[in-house]
Amino acid sequence: MASQKLLLLPGDGIGPEIMPEVKKVISWFNENGDMSFETEEGLVGGSAYDAHGQSISEEDMAKAMAADAVIFGAVGGPKWDDVPYEVRPEAGLLRLRKDMQLFANLRPAICYPALADASSLKKDIIEGLDILIVRELTGGVYFGEPKEITDLGNGQKRGVDTQVYDTYEIERISKVAFELARTRNNKVTSMEKRNVMKSGVLWNEVVTQTHGNGYQDVELEHMLADAGGMQLVRWPKQFDVIVTDNLFGDMLSDVAAMLTGSLGMLPSASLGAPDEATGKRKALYEPVHGSAPDIAGTGAANPIAMIASFGMALRYSFEEVEAADKLDKAIAVALDKGLRTKDIAGEGQATVSTSEMGDAIVAELSALSA
Ligand code: IPM
Ligand code: MN
Repeated sequence: MASQKLLLLPGDGIGPEIMPEVKKVISWFNENGDMSFETEEGLVGGSAYDAHGQSISEEDMAKAMAADAVIFGAVGGPKWDDVPYEVRPEAGLLRLRKDMQLFANLRPAICYPALADASSLKKDIIEGLDILIVRELTGGVYFGEPKEITDLGNGQKRGVDTQVYDTYEIERISKVAFELARTRNNKVTSMEKRNVMKSGVLWNEVVTQTHGNGYQDVELEHMLADAGGMQLVRWPKQFDVIVTDNLFGDMLSDVAAMLTGSLGMLPSASLGAPDEATGKRKALYEPVHGSAPDIAGTGAANPIAMIASFGMALRYSFEEVEAADKLDKAIAVALDKGLRTKDIAGEGQATVSTSEMGDAIVAELSALSA
């Protein structure tokens, strides 16, 4: 395989602590696999703001556009609570998503057998859970205009965000969901609020139409997003693939993540459309968790979501399915052997540091290849 260019953007908080662990994994594949990755690093979020007053520089944006995949840590923290809205840490991530046109956000929620006791739900409800949330990522209320606070001149202000979806945006995200469902348990649940939102009515219509145009082999179900949230905590195993808009997807994926026992475990992939000439998609891979400023600097962060995000890069950007399976297996074995960072340790259970967990996963990769 020709050399692949990765842009590493550690970001803020625990981001710079978990990124070195994924670098160990990348080096392992460079040395032991038949693939070759070149890495470059850049700044995003508060760390970019501190360095040059922007949440991502033009130079790093250009590197992201040119990379075969971006590996992203996390952004944000109380340190930047008072920076101007336009350059707040999250703006860097949103710009990457928008400019790279990463409209499809894949957020798997799987329950590792070794962690079935770590969920706040009863074990039989989440044991064996394996669902995939497909979140629309470049539209909806995140980017709709107008988006503003205006002064009404009578001592009142008005805050406005705009929820807007065009047919093509709903169509392309539902296709992604149907296609992924075919590789899994062949069921898609679409979630919106058609009972109160016009964008929900259109969402529902377009998903149904798209289903009728070549995806009838996939089971399709519609659910109101509030009921969907309720069903997610009641009986999550009823779902296979959930497709939903940007804001509902943000909330529902946090709920789904918590079901699995730890937010620190879950990776995500954000993908663009395949390039017409090369067939390659722009892509960014990031943990579902945030920058966890409360534990930053303590060596307690769980690097698994970050490492598993690189696993998704192997799967979705580089078609290295075997390598991705091997990495997922290495993570599962390390957990089976009882290795726990603080966030996933049971009462009285011994814990390992961020770098010890990274080393253990690399050791399991070697053991699986021996
Ligand atoms: C996420 C995060 C982001 C979002 C923030 C950091 C802008 O919560 O990726 O889920 O709201 O999309
Ligand atoms: Mn979120």
